Amino acid sequence: MILVTGSAGFIGSNFVLDWCAQHDEAVISLDKLTYAGNLENLASLKDNPRHIFVQGDIGDAELVGKLLAQYRPRAVVNFAAESHVDRSIHGPEDFIQTNIVGTFHLLEAVRAYWQKLPSPVSGITSDLAGVVGQPSRMASSSIRGAGGEGATKTDFRFLHVSTDEVYGSLAKDEPAFSETHRYEPNSPYSASKAASDHLVRAYHHTYGLPVLTTNCSNNYGPYHFPEKLIPLLIVNALAGKALPVYGDGQQIRDWLYVKDHCSAIRCVLEKGALGEVYNIGGWNEKANLDIVHTVCALLDELRPRADGKSYSEQITFVTDRPGHDRRYAIDARKIERELGWKPAETFETGIRKTVQWYLDNQGWVNNVLSGNYRQWVAKQYGE
Ligand code: NAD
Ligand code: DAU
Repeated sequence: MILVTGSAGFIGSNFVLDWCAQHDEAVISLDKLTYAGNLENLASLKDNPRHIFVQGDIGDAELVGKLLAQYRPRAVVNFAAESHVDRSIHGPEDFIQTNIVGTFHLLEAVRAYWQKLPSPVSGITSDLAGVVGQPSRMASSSIRGAGGEGATKTDFRFLHVSTDEVYGSLAKDEPAFSETHRYEPNSPYSASKAASDHLVRAYHHTYGLPVLTTNCSNNYGPYHFPEKLIPLLIVNALAGKALPVYGDGQQIRDWLYVKDHCSAIRCVLEKGALGEVYNIGGWNEKANLDIVHTVCALLDELRPRADGKSYSEQITFVTDRPGHDRRYAIDARKIERELGWKPAETFETGIRKTVQWYLDNQGWVNNVLSGNYRQWVAKQYGE
């Protein structure tokens, strides 16, 4: 069994869906269900006995401790975070609370659990029985402990999911970020993620906690909340609204299809060396304005405007993001060389799938836009 935090968000839900499709091993999902958490993303797992959803905060060390004691996972994959740069500029406090303080409490709970795990050599069993509070109705009581009996001190892993933004901004001709690039976070979001990375590193160095850290570039794909550039463009274009481009639109991001990020995390979890950092990216640097034109061209093809004009007519240049990082680029050679991971999608295939997913899932989009997704638990499960 594994414990996945932030599992109702964009990447976490893709990870859990892929995991359940590919593995027999059970998953406990822990998510606070902030505005970014959408249980509708996990609706297809409603009747899956190998998936347990628990609403809760990674900063609630007591709850996390009880979950660990009861289900005895062999790994924790930490996606939970406040993730939107613009929100961190308007209100940094939640970012400090979840990304730094929350990660600290999570690490403490995990450390206490890990220290009591049996070592495979001694065969000593631990006394980690515990009772979990109130898992949601997605939980199945029959699964308690399933897959967890084999968790040992040696095999346990804590995988921390982080971002390329901790490395700061690159000039046009600078080499891409390697794992040894200095940390130079520029936004409250990236500074809070950098702090969490340092805590994870320190727990390995000081306590020997078996950690892995991944730093990934910009993701895109299904279930992406439409506050982020690509889903915002698709949703606004179809609604006849402006397509807001910050500043001159020449900022560069390195885009990776979300399913490739998920496969990279599975690969690091399986084969990564303890205490190591792996950068994950798609070798896909694009200027924002090119992204906007690509999305418009795909929509022109797949869902032409009624008036026959291009969606690019809706492009509107707006005030730049304060402190806007100019360029991110990931050097993903280490994970390819050492673990054999490579992305499966090109940007062309991934962005087409993504636009098509939004066209095919208007119900999901409408629930997000109307706010109805927040009532999903009550609507679906009658709670
Ligand atoms: P998201 O905002 O879509 O999802 C975050 C999830 O975490 C939500 O479901 C939210 O409810 C949950 N959450 C927030 N605070 C919590 C708390 N205190 N306790 C438990 N759950 C909490 O984010 P995402 O885009 O899916 O990103 C997931 C992780 O990947 C983040 O750590 C982010 O920094 C990292 N990352 C994201 C990208 C990207 O392009 N989106 C790229 C690299 C790394
Ligand atoms: O690089 C990884 C990071 O990618 C993750 O760590 C973050 O969690 C994730 O949100 C993302 O951060 P960005 O700030 O790069 O993503 P966003 O989609 O917000 O913006 C992408 C680019 O598009 C960025 O240069 C800002 C610009 N932008 C964004 C929005 C929302 C616009 O021009 N207009 C917009 O309306």
